[in-house]
Amino acid sequence: MLRIDDLRVNYGGIEAVKGISIEVPEGEIVTLIGANGAGKSTTLRSVAGLVKPASGSIAFKGEDITANSPNSIVSKGITLVPEGRRVFPDLTVFENLKIGAYLRKDNLDKDINWVYELFPRLKERSWQAAGTLSGGEQQMLAVGRALMSRPKLMMMDEPSLGLAPLIVKGIFEIIKEINRQGVTILLIEQNANMALQIADTGYVLETGRLTMKGAGKALLSDEAVRKAYLG
Ligand SMILES: Nc1ncnc2c1ncn2[C@@H]1O[C@H](COP(=O)(O)OP(=O)(O)OP(=O)(O)O)[C@@H](O)[C@H]1O
Ligand SMILES: [Mg+2]
Repeated sequence: MLRIDDLRVNYGGIEAVKGISIEVPEGEIVTLIGANGAGKSTTLRSVAGLVKPASGSIAFKGEDITANSPNSIVSKGITLVPEGRRVFPDLTVFENLKIGAYLRKDNLDKDINWVYELFPRLKERSWQAAGTLSGGEQQMLAVGRALMSRPKLMMMDEPSLGLAPLIVKGIFEIIKEINRQGVTILLIEQNANMALQIADTGYVLETGRLTMKGAGKALLSDEAVRKAYLG
């Protein structure tokens, strides 16, 4: 579904991503793990059209989208739940969700209800200002808002960051459920343990280069991965 081929991204003179190739098959959960500064967010931001690659290509369903604008990429069915959640704090939960559907003009009730079914907590707090939600609730809202674009591929940048273990478990359950409902997932995580448990395929990124690829379960039991990422 998504094919990243020999992607290179520079910031000024610094090479953040040094020629990586990643495939995300339709229906799968693929995870990208790696230390701080490895280039994980940069990779997702390139796919979303938010940073321009120096070279390489990105194709979605066989179509080259490397030079496309962020809006055109969203309308093709790719969405990004960014690092750090970034909800609009002064708008209500409901308003934040509507913004997620900004490129669509059709009836949103069905999708709002879909999000409320996945996250009953958001329904309860529909009229609350997003900035007053707890961290876990804000993450739910960030995911819900991304779902409002009706994505085929949802990219998530560290959804578990800063959340308590029980909330993290809930977020991972929801990721699996969203995937079961037909959304392909590309997930970045520092919580490699949880991510590899739910992933069909995992990639390990080290300072801009891929060093390993394998089935999630296989990487989970790999000695080198255990040492470096699982403590
Ligand atoms: N806008 C930018 N300008 C300059 N350098 C940047 C910019 N964004 C990222 N970088 C650099 O690119 C490298 C990769 O950053 P990136 O955010 O992709 O890493 P990451 O794997 O997501 O890390 P983390 O786990 O800490 O989020 C880092 O060295 C970072 O300092
Ligand atoms: Mg990052």
